Amino acid sequence: MSSETFQLPIEAAEAYEAAFVPAFFAQWAPMICDLARVAPGQSVLDVACGTGIVTRTAADRVGPEGEVVGLDLNEAMLTVARRVRPDLTWRQGDAAALPFPDRSFDAVLCQMALMFFPDRPAALQEMARVAVPGGSVALAVPGRLDAQAAFAPLFDMVVRYAGEEARALLSAYFVCGDLDELAALVDSAGLDVSVARTELGTYRAPSVDEFVRTEVESTPLAERITEDEYARIRGDARDLLAAFVAPDGSFIAPFEVNLVAARRASG
Ligand SMILES: C[S@@+](CC[C@H](N)C(=O)[O-])C[C@H]1O[C@@H](n2cnc3c(N)ncnc32)[C@H](O)[C@@H]1O
Repeated sequence: MSSETFQLPIEAAEAYEAAFVPAFFAQWAPMICDLARVAPGQSVLDVACGTGIVTRTAADRVGPEGEVVGLDLNEAMLTVARRVRPDLTWRQGDAAALPFPDRSFDAVLCQMALMFFPDRPAALQEMARVAVPGGSVALAVPGRLDAQAAFAPLFDMVVRYAGEEARALLSAYFVCGDLDELAALVDSAGLDVSVARTELGTYRAPSVDEFVRTEVESTPLAERITEDEYARIRGDARDLLAAFVAPDGSFIAPFEVNLVAARRASG
């Protein structure tokens, strides 16, 4: 994927920061910092930082003596990141070709992004390269699709309307769901895996309709289904996912995430 084809409009990046960060992404930021043992005075790189929730969390932990850099392919995400925290360092770049010298950072973090990288081994090798010897690399990615209590039945239902090929379009988020495979991938980048575990959190949306809208309209599936099919998918989802509707009408479902921590060998 080139940087030209991965650009988002600024409105989408603002909506990401306003809606999706508090509803979903913020909860994992302290965990990934814990995993990497981010501490005062350290230098930290946040790869695929988006609007910067992990970068900001790491900045609070490293304190004034430390240094953090947020890197993302997407200029609109970085524009929002800069607006929220103009005091931090934001860089445009590709995870598969990090624009930093070898051995630059005590900790390298990457939250909810590895699954989107076209060349995951190259990105992991790059994270290992820019970590200091003995430094840490920590990753968070969505867990297995079949363990996701709301996403799995929603996707099964959508596939009944849109055909089996729709499953791959919807499931892109979950391609790093196999924890053993993920740990093996990290290991083959020359890193020593110290933690590989699954953590349960929550996925929130203002309503079931909004949840379905995000899942369908943020994928190419939106162009492959008719208005009528989409209306029936929304109607079925309200019944299928009724157990995840809170008294105020909002949607709250459990969500499994894979967490991996590794070290670059010393020396
Ligand atoms: C779901 S967002 C996660 C953002 C952030 N880590 C968070 O937790 O909020 C995925 C991010 O990966 C970025 N991304 C995708 N491919 C990338 C690549 N090859 N190099 C750098 N960033 C990339 C996207 O621009 C997007 O900001």
